[in-house]
Amino acid sequence: TTTTNNNVIHLTSVIYNASGPRTGTSTAMAKIAVSEGAGGVLAKSATLVAQKGNDLPRTWHEDSNGAAAAASSSSTSSTTSLNSEGLPNNGIDYYINPQTIRETMAGCTNRKPYMVSISGKTLNDNLQMLQKIYKAIHEQQQQHDANPGDDEKINIAAVELNLACPNIIGKPTIGYDFEQMEDVLKRVSSLPCFGTTSPPLFPLGVKLPPYFDRSHFIMAATILNKYKHILTYVATINTIGNALAVDYPAEMKAVRPNGGYAGLSGPAVKYTALANVCMMRELLDESIDVVGVGGVQTGKDVFEMILCGAHAVQVGTCHWLEGPGCFDRICRELRLIMKEKGYTKIEDFRGKLKEW
Ligand code: DHB
Repeated sequence: TTTTNNNVIHLTSVIYNASGPRTGTSTAMAKIAVSEGAGGVLAKSATLVAQKGNDLPRTWHEDSNGAAAAASSSSTSSTTSLNSEGLPNNGIDYYINPQTIRETMAGCTNRKPYMVSISGKTLNDNLQMLQKIYKAIHEQQQQHDANPGDDEKINIAAVELNLACPNIIGKPTIGYDFEQMEDVLKRVSSLPCFGTTSPPLFPLGVKLPPYFDRSHFIMAATILNKYKHILTYVATINTIGNALAVDYPAEMKAVRPNGGYAGLSGPAVKYTALANVCMMRELLDESIDVVGVGGVQTGKDVFEMILCGAHAVQVGTCHWLEGPGCFDRICRELRLIMKEKGYTKIEDFRGKLKEW
C-alpha cells in the first residue's frame, strides 16, 4: 500500500524550515510541527555518526550598523549571520527513528510531511544513510499495513541530499566539484531504492550551493537534468561559503573554526538566492521543482521567490533568529499580498516574473 505519488511531497503550506537552525532535536522540530504556517518539517543535516561539530564560537550575528546581535533579539530584520557549525547532529539513526518522528510530529494537527536531510562526509556515508532511510520507510510502511490504526504520518516523506555544506574542514563543497557531483548522483541513482523502471521509493531533493557564473549554472543544471528520474526538487541556495566577519571591538575574527571563514546567511544573500532560483528554473527540466531558500524573512520575500519560479520556500536564518513564530507571520504577510494583488492561488503568479 505504498502511495502512487511517490515523487510528490504534500506540503501543507508553501513555506517550511530550512535544514540547519532549530532542527537538531525532536524538541526543536516539534515547534515547527505545531506551527500552522510551516508546511513541513525538515531535520538537521545528518551524518552517519553523531558529531559535536566545530569549536565555539561558531556563529555570529550582526545588524546593519555592525553591532553584534543575538539570536531571539527583538530586531532581526537587518541581521546578517555567519556560521561554521561543522554539522553538529545526532546522527542519521536518530533522525529516522520512529520515536524521534513521533515526538516531532505529536502536536501537529494537519498531515504535514517530516523530511530528513543528509550530508555525508563521504559518498559511501551518503549511500549508507540512504539505505538506512529506505529500510526505515519500508519498516514503517509494513508496521502501518499490519496495524492500520497506527499513525501513518510517522514516516519519512522526503530526503534532502546536501551537496553544499561549506563548513567541513578540509572537504570541498560537492556542488562546486562537478565531477564529484555527477559521481554522487550516479551512485545514488544506482541504489536499489531508485530502480530505473519505477518511480523512486521516496522523493529526493538536493541542496545546492549558490552559483555566480552562468557557465557554472549550466554545468550544474546539465548534471541534475541527467538524473531527473530520481530528483523531485532542487533547493537553492545554501549559505554563501567562506565569508569573514570581524568582531570590531575585539579586532578579531568573529567565528573561531575554519580560520574564521564561515557560511553567510540572512537578508544579504536574498538577491543571490533569487538569481539562483530564477536561473535554475530556466535551466532545469520542468519535472524538477525548485525550492527557494536564502534570506527570506517576509511574505514579500516569499512572493518574489515564487515569482522567480519557486514551488516552495524554505526559511533558515529568520527561523533561527525569530523562532518558529516566523512561519505564521510570513504566511499572513503572503496572504495579504495575494489579496492586495488579486491572486487567489500560488499558480496565479508562480514563475510569472515579467521580462523587460
Ligand atoms: C552546516 C552548514 C551548512 O551550510 C550546511 O549546509 C550544513 C552544515 C554546518 O556548519 O553545520
